[in-house]
Parts: sequence; structure tokens; C-alpha cells
Amino acid sequence: MATTDGLEDIVAAHSSICELDGKQGRLLYYGVDIHDLARYSSFEETAYLLWHGVLPTRVQLEDFTYQLQANRALPPAIMHLMQLMPKTATPMDVLRTSVSALSSFDPDAGDNTRAANVRRSIRLTALFPTIVAAWDRIRNGKEPVEPLAGENHATNFLYMLNGEMPDAYNAHVLDTALILHADHELNASTFAARVTAATLASMYAAITSAIGALSGALHGGANEQVIRMLMKIGEVDKAEAYIVGALERKERIMGFGHRVYRTDDPRATHLRQMSEELGKRTGDSRWYEMSRIVEASVKEHKGLYANVDFYSASVYYMLGVPIDLDTPIFACSRISGWTAHVLEQFGNNRLIRPRAEYVGPKDVKYVPLEERE
Ligand SMILES: CC(C)(COP(=O)(O)OP(=O)(O)OC[C@H]1O[C@@H](n2cnc3c(N)ncnc32)[C@H](O)[C@@H]1OP(=O)(O)O)[C@@H](O)C(=O)NCCC(=O)NCCS
Repeated sequence: MATTDGLEDIVAAHSSICELDGKQGRLLYYGVDIHDLARYSSFEETAYLLWHGVLPTRVQLEDFTYQLQANRALPPAIMHLMQLMPKTATPMDVLRTSVSALSSFDPDAGDNTRAANVRRSIRLTALFPTIVAAWDRIRNGKEPVEPLAGENHATNFLYMLNGEMPDAYNAHVLDTALILHADHELNASTFAARVTAATLASMYAAITSAIGALSGALHGGANEQVIRMLMKIGEVDKAEAYIVGALERKERIMGFGHRVYRTDDPRATHLRQMSEELGKRTGDSRWYEMSRIVEASVKEHKGLYANVDFYSASVYYMLGVPIDLDTPIFACSRISGWTAHVLEQFGNNRLIRPRAEYVGPKDVKYVPLEERE
């Protein structure tokens, strides 16, 4: 039996959603290059592409955008549930718990047709930003802000978070970040979602699994750790020495390395540019400049490239997003990819059940309890 710890390079599904070439640094959703999506598309259009396999017509996009906007309000019981949670609860835990609880308020309960699961995908994608923004306000003793009816996903999120309309450029930056994070083939959280869906558990169960998997520092949790590291470094001219020291101590530098990419992560290209531009606009280029030195040092001393989480950290920080919302924002985007994969899994399902190579003790005699020492 071939054994690969971490399932490295194991192909575990046929999928039409995301093509990922780690050697060339190419990423495509249903054949459309991520660079084109980042430059010309919107999160709404990208989510439609992931669920339907083609870019929408103008009419389809308008209808789809309307459906997302119409599903932004949380059931009051979920808002109440959040109010009962300790203010110290991490936003990812609150998101996971709220999504799990949402399954009990499903208007399509008992219906596992594709149409019902597309409606669930829309509802979940519409609700993620409402949950994340509401939790940030609740934990800070503020009233949650009602979602806007007529704005795009990114604008509405920043509005609900801060209680005021965001700067148009900031909303555009967040929209682009949401496009870049929307899907990434069989990453750990998407795999978790598909494994759960493959047992014919519900969409909610699958997404709850995915949120749990995303929260870890080796996956979506890395972006939060990146900004914490930049804060620890503090000054541009301390960055290189910090990285050299951390690598000598055999520490992992968050935001670097990838299981699949052996070259530049194409998503990092756009995030790097936005980090630079935000530095100019805010008049504080420290985070971008520090990031550039960290990137060069990790490349020089360890040969690793920045991944999607590295520059998203300084981008979100300069957008004024609280640090521990970095990973929930990742989730607000990746919910589109998770649900696309669950739809695909349900469409051609087989239980996912790999094997383990047994390396434990053999032929151990059962000793009765009273004879054990
Ligand atoms: C993403 C990640 C988990 C992929 O890991 P992987 O494919 O399992 O690779 P491994 O953990 O086996 O690491 C292989 C080697 O690279 C090193 N390495 C990998 N990522 C590293 C990092 N970020 N910093 C320092 N060293 C790293 C490992 O220490 C190991 O070195 P060794 O062979 O000298 O022991 C890993 O690169 C990582 O931990 N990155 C930081 C977390 C992160 O940014 N996650 C978000 C990914 S999008």
C-alpha cells in the first residue's frame, strides 16, 4: 500500500471547478484565469462562476446579486445566540457555531436537491459577512448594523463592520481579495467539506467542518499570525534579522510555503500590489515595506515563496479590519468555493474513505483488568 503522509500529491477527486498548476503558478476557476477575475470581475460574478460553471450574463448577474442581497438578514435567534456567547470567543468559533445552528432554521429542511443546495449556498454566502460583522460589534458592546439592500458584498461587509459607508477604493480592494480567496481546489478545508458531504450529511454539516479546518494556523489562520509577526518585528530595518533568527530557531514563518505551489502564488501578486497601494494611500508604508523585506529574506534563506495569506494580512490591517477577523474574511470568500465543491460532491457522490498503514503493536494479548499492573 502506497503511503503519503498528509496525502501529498494524492489525487482524491475529479473536479471541474479549480485548476491549479503549482509549477507554473497558475490558478483558474472553470478555466478562467484568476488574474482576469482579479482585474475585471467581482466577488458576485466569481461566486456565480463557481456554482454554475460559466460566467453570468448581465441579467443573470443582476438576479444573482439580488438574491445574495435579499438573504443577508440573520434569523433573530442566531443573533440572540451570538449575544449569549462570551465576548472573548474567537470570531472563527462564533462563525462555526452560528453556521452549525443555522441548520435548524433552514427553509429547505429535508430537501437535498441541487436546487435546494444552490439556495443554501446563496444563503450561507450572504450570511457569513453578517455573522462576522455582527459578532465584532456584539463583542465590543455595539448594536449590530442591519445589512444594506443595494450594495455589493464587500461594501456591505465593511459597512456592517464599521457602521459607515466605506471608501470606494477600500471596498474594491476587499472585493478583489474575496475573488482571490474564493476557491483553491482540494485545500484542507474544502477537503473537509467534501469528506463530510460525501457521507450524505447536510450542506451545513459540511460547511461547519470546513470552518473548523480553515481556522488552523497552517491553513486560513496563517493571515492573522502574519500580522502579529509584523507587529512583533515593528520596524522595517529589524525585519531581516528577525527572519534570520526565526529560521535559525527552526520557526515557521507564517504566510510562506505551500503544499502545491513551487513558484509565486498568483494570488499574492495582486495582494502585494494592493498592500503597496494602501500603504501610499494611508501614508504609512511600513507594513508593506516590512513585508517586502520579510519576503526577500525568506526567499533568500529558505527558498520559500509568499502565499495568499502573507500580503492579505497587511491589506486587511490597512483596511482597518481587526486582526482576528482576517481568517473569518477568508471564510466569507471561501464559502463560495466550499459550497461549489459540496454541490459537485453531491452531484456525483462516493464515500471518501482512505486507508491508514498500520504501524502499531501486533498480536497484543488481552490482559484482564485485575491482572494489569
Ligand atoms: C503551507 C504548509 C503547511 C505546507 O506544508 P507542507 O507541504 O506540509 O510542507 P512541510 O511542512 O513538510 O515543510 C517542508 C519543509 O519546508 C519547511 N517549511 C515549510 N513552510 C515553512 C515556513 N512557512 N517557514 C519555515 N519553514 C517552512 C519545513 O520546515 C520543512 O523543512 P525541513 O524539510 O527542513 O524540515 C507550510 O508551508 C507552512 O506551515 N506554512 C506556514 C503556514 C501558512 O502560511 N499556511 C497558509 C498556506 S496557504
